[in-house]
Amino acid sequence: MVIANEQMEAGRAPRPASVKVWDPFVRVFHWSLVSFFLIAWATADGWDRAHEWAGYAVLVLVGLRLVWGLIGTRYARFSDFIYRPSAVIGYLKDSLAFRAKRYLGHNPAGGAMVLVLLLSLSLAVGTGVMSTMDAYWGVEWVEELHEVTANLTIGLVFLHVMGVILSSLQHRENLVRSMFSGLKRRDD
Ligand code: HEM
Ligand code: HEM
Repeated sequence: MVIANEQMEAGRAPRPASVKVWDPFVRVFHWSLVSFFLIAWATADGWDRAHEWAGYAVLVLVGLRLVWGLIGTRYARFSDFIYRPSAVIGYLKDSLAFRAKRYLGHNPAGGAMVLVLLLSLSLAVGTGVMSTMDAYWGVEWVEELHEVTANLTIGLVFLHVMGVILSSLQHRENLVRSMFSGLKRRDD
């Protein structure tokens, strides 16, 4: 209220209150991950060097995100977005009925998706690195598992983006823009 008055006195319209939710690390992490993941995907068929380097970049990003989940800022911490499975299922049901509660950080389903994505990415890069090692060179199950986990991740990304769109529509906010600016509307 005081801020709004000051802004009006200064001749400016009051801005809707917003809160910093995603810190710079999370934002740079997210869009770099998207870029390197897409490069790894696009170069999987033949562009070996580019594919491996993009994959290593994904590996480093995922590793850093795991550490940031323990020591990072409030909404970046795992403890902020790990919920019981019953809460995740309840949230998904509410969400499909278009009556889900709004969260400032990750909602229970979004939080679960973050964990599943990080796990699936770890398996994809782990088996990718293995398939370049002498010990596993040409070993079929390693190559198969690499391809399966990479495809699984693509499927999860599709669901992830669907979730972002559904949640944005439901709460009349642009979550993609928030992942660039770090800002979200103050809880109402
Ligand atoms: C998120 C990261 C990654 C994705 C999405 C991904 C995806 C894929 C896919 C779909 C293939 C199958 C291509 C085909 O046979 O048509 C493939 C092959 C391959 N990838 Fe990756 N990859 C990733 C990371 C890595 C990493 C980190 C390495 C190694 C440092 C790597 C090394 C290889 C190699 C050597 C092959 C060819 C042999 C094989 O089929 O296993 N990849 N990758
Ligand atoms: C263009 C496609 C994409 C869009 C529009 C998008 C959008 C978003 C948004 C809006 C969030 C925040 C969700 C929330 O508000 O709770 C988010 C989080 C996240 N996304 Fe994406 N995403 C995309 C692609 C991807 C891809 C390709 C990956 C991984 C392969 C990915 C992995 C993640 C992860 C791990 C988080 C959690 C961020 C964190 O807490 O550090 N996203 N994404």
